[in-house]
Amino acid sequence: MGQSFLVTGGAGFVGSHLVAALRARGDAVVVFDNLSTGHRAAVPEDVPLVHGDLTDATAIDAAMAGQGFDGVFHFAALSLVGDSMRQPERYFSANVGNSLRLIEACLKHGVGKFVFSSTAALFGMPERIPIAEDDRVDPGSPYGESKHMVERMLHWADRVHGLRYAALRYFNAAGADPDGRLGEDHQPETHLIPLAIDAALGRRPPLAVFGTDYPTPDGTCIRDYVHVSDLASAHLAAFARLDDSSVTYNLGSASGHSVREVLAAVARVGGQPVPHTLAARRPGDPAVLIASPERIKRETGWAPRLTALEDIVATAWAWRAAHPDGYRA
Ligand code: UFG
Repeated sequence: MGQSFLVTGGAGFVGSHLVAALRARGDAVVVFDNLSTGHRAAVPEDVPLVHGDLTDATAIDAAMAGQGFDGVFHFAALSLVGDSMRQPERYFSANVGNSLRLIEACLKHGVGKFVFSSTAALFGMPERIPIAEDDRVDPGSPYGESKHMVERMLHWADRVHGLRYAALRYFNAAGADPDGRLGEDHQPETHLIPLAIDAALGRRPPLAVFGTDYPTPDGTCIRDYVHVSDLASAHLAAFARLDDSSVTYNLGSASGHSVREVLAAVARVGGQPVPHTLAARRPGDPAVLIASPERIKRETGWAPRLTALEDIVATAWAWRAAHPDGYRA
């Protein structure tokens, strides 16, 4: 018998891929999403979608009452580092305030397991690479800070009430469902891979490479790109651990790629160069972010499957080429 779950933000990029993974193994899912950045078309027609907002405790109550959920996966959040530097209060409200309401609802309705979308951004400028879970937390933005605050709330919800949680720190989520049904569609788009693909396809102006004077071999920033379907499977692996204890995991591949390497991979996959310009650094970008995923590997056996950058880019390319207007098509 499958289990049943509430997935907040299940109409978004990573959330929709988790919904697909849950359903593939026979679980029942209810999606709770305000559709501010998510897409109705990303939720399968036979999955109940509660079009609600986490500012509304009554709506959360109504979604949870009598459902007997085995757990909650909480993706719904604001997630842009630069945006959070302009409007920190919005991030604390949407990410911290809303998470608190959701935790309270879990306690009220007897939902004992909570999986939380955290971020590599809580490490700020890391002291060492690859980054392990217990390395120094020093968020460089309100976004990273807001996610760390939720991790701390969950820590105390566990200590005081026994709420089991998984805090999953994503590095750079990328790619698209290899079956071609789901993909990345942000408005506005700010992420490197979709912007580079669109530049190669001539749908956008040349990509601006943010900074070429970083202390890296080619001068551009290095990131750990992890395929979104691998992120989804990591959620299932982490959830299975919650019978024993709460867990915190860094989710990445242990390898990094520079911006120039990403552009080269996009060019190889698409068979055409990525038009680009060289621009100034984007404020707040650390030079290198690479995860050590050793803890989740050791404790759950999880490992990313799509590790080659070109394979990750190829899934993103296939989806964008087939969906020029994203989910609006
Ligand atoms: N970049 C460019 N030009 C662009 C866009 C991005 O050069 O037009 C560069 C960035 O400077 C960075 C790299 O490409 O060096 C990746 O940038 P993204 O915006 O795609 O991703 P970030 O690393 O900034 O952030 C992502 C998520 C965050 C998360 C972080 C953790 O958006 O939520 O990964 O690693 F916190």
